[in-house]
Amino acid sequence: MKTKIIELDEIDSTNEFCKRFPNEADLIVCAKRQTKGKGTKGRSFISDEGGVYVSVMKRYKNFDFSNTFSIMINACVAVCNTLKAFNLNPTVKWANDVLLNGKKVCGTLIENRLGADNTCLSIVGIGLNVNNLLPEELKEIATTMRESKGRKLNLKSVRAQLIKNLQNEYTVEEYKSFVNWFGQEVYLDANGQRLSATALDVDEKGNLICEIDGEIQKISSAEMSLRFKCSTV
Ligand code: BTN
Repeated sequence: MKTKIIELDEIDSTNEFCKRFPNEADLIVCAKRQTKGKGTKGRSFISDEGGVYVSVMKRYKNFDFSNTFSIMINACVAVCNTLKAFNLNPTVKWANDVLLNGKKVCGTLIENRLGADNTCLSIVGIGLNVNNLLPEELKEIATTMRESKGRKLNLKSVRAQLIKNLQNEYTVEEYKSFVNWFGQEVYLDANGQRLSATALDVDEKGNLICEIDGEIQKISSAEMSLRFKCSTV
């Protein structure tokens, strides 16, 4: 089925817009700005004009939990390939942050709703900082494509490239090609606790393979989040 694309000037949140039309999957919604952009962990996501704000809603049959990583890597690789198409050099921070020069350039909010018969309605919301100006308090940890290029980009071209890429499927190998921290000492954070680990690999199911106190362990992104030792991100 052909994916329907809706382009809006302003909306509260493209993810929330999708939820109002659950029977419309497959659907892509983009907006020039959001008045109530949503981030992960209940945070808000500043969505001023100049960024790209897109949600992709798909319905999956026979969904199983391991599919959640495929959904996530698809979003990450689609964003990374978009940045590459504009001659930028992105990296990923497990699980689903995309960075430019070590700072976050894109946020992803994935909302999956499991239905009867193992179906899943999945909404992948992506906020990509392109030409938008960042508030002072985010400048330490976030960046824009414009900052990296030293000039404004054609917003429509960036959006079109991202939408095109989001309709492709990618592998974990492509995801790993954007990882530059294998072999590094990292922190793993969960519930206010912090562990030191050496990051080694990401497996097919999206688990982080790492060494903790001499033991090789598989960590799921639902359990812990990765922090770099020498960075604010
Ligand atoms: C994060 O880094 O906290 C995730 C931010 C996700 C923002 C995007 S913008 C498009 C979609 N609509 C929303 O309200 N949020 C996501």
